[in-house]
Amino acid sequence: MTPDLMEEGAQRLERTAVAKLGQTESGGREAGFSRIATPGEVDITHGRILYLEDVHRSFDGFKAINGLSLDIAPGELRCIIGPNGAGKTTMMDIITGKTRPDKGTVFFGSTIDLLRHTEPEIAQLGIGRKFQKPTVFEHLTVFENLELALATDKGVKSSMLFRLDSRQSDRLAEILHTIHLADSVNRLSGNLSHGQKQWLEIGMLLMQDPKLLLLDEPVAGMTDEETARTAELFLTLKGKHSLMVVEHDMSFIRTISEIVTVLCDGAVLAQGTLDQVQADERVIEVYLGR
Ligand SMILES: Nc1ncnc2c1ncn2[C@@H]1O[C@H](COP(=O)(O)OP(=O)(O)OP(=O)(O)O)[C@@H](O)[C@H]1O
Ligand SMILES: [Mg+2]
Repeated sequence: MTPDLMEEGAQRLERTAVAKLGQTESGGREAGFSRIATPGEVDITHGRILYLEDVHRSFDGFKAINGLSLDIAPGELRCIIGPNGAGKTTMMDIITGKTRPDKGTVFFGSTIDLLRHTEPEIAQLGIGRKFQKPTVFEHLTVFENLELALATDKGVKSSMLFRLDSRQSDRLAEILHTIHLADSVNRLSGNLSHGQKQWLEIGMLLMQDPKLLLLDEPVAGMTDEETARTAELFLTLKGKHSLMVVEHDMSFIRTISEIVTVLCDGAVLAQGTLDQVQADERVIEVYLGR
């Protein structure tokens, strides 16, 4: 697994040396490499948007994450399942910089070492996270919530001085449609249903155009109809964004999944289609044997 990264690292050093000499480069891999110099771009030339290797994290001696390795392809919609306490949320905490691992490798694309970045920097790099509980501004309208999602400065946020340019307005209109709230644009967010609040929060993340979206139990508490519409929403987002979705709702997983990763005791227990992992004896054991 690491040879790829090591090779990339070696080439990176070489190219840095070349760059220092002021020489030019050309060709596919070089073009891919040169992109890392562009702020906001992620090098996906190795076919991975996210790469974790042998990650460990203990809490008071309890191994919540214990040798976790996985990677996600650009545009993929990866589903993560696993029993309570498997380490799913902790994994997201580590990716987003909320929790630091004791050891291991966590890369965004081939070149961005996430362990060298703070939580706000990681958000800025293009990793959006949706927690289970909706956190919209209830006293503001749907429109205002989406508008504010672009205002990063806290002072601007509180004074409401932030205004969208025409490109941002177009984007807001498109997102309203995507999250099924085009008819509710002027409604107070506090009056939305639980499912609609969840979609609004996803819309707020989309306003920042994240490359990778992490969604922790997005359909918990939703009605069946809201769950079905959320599945549709995720299928539209796939390809344009990479998504990592943690869920316990297996019928939802069945509708949206390609590859399913099963976490247990802080590591990957099995991976494959939902049918494959559900037929795996070890997976049956952890779900039924506890
Ligand atoms: N900050 C913390 N301090 C102590 N223990 C923690 C902390 N964060 C997580 N844990 C423990 O790590 C283990 C993994 O928790 P985590 O929340 O990641 O599981 P999960 O797979 O998300 O479970 P669920 O499906 O119930 O959400 C649990 O035993 C939890 O109690
Ligand atoms: Mg959790």
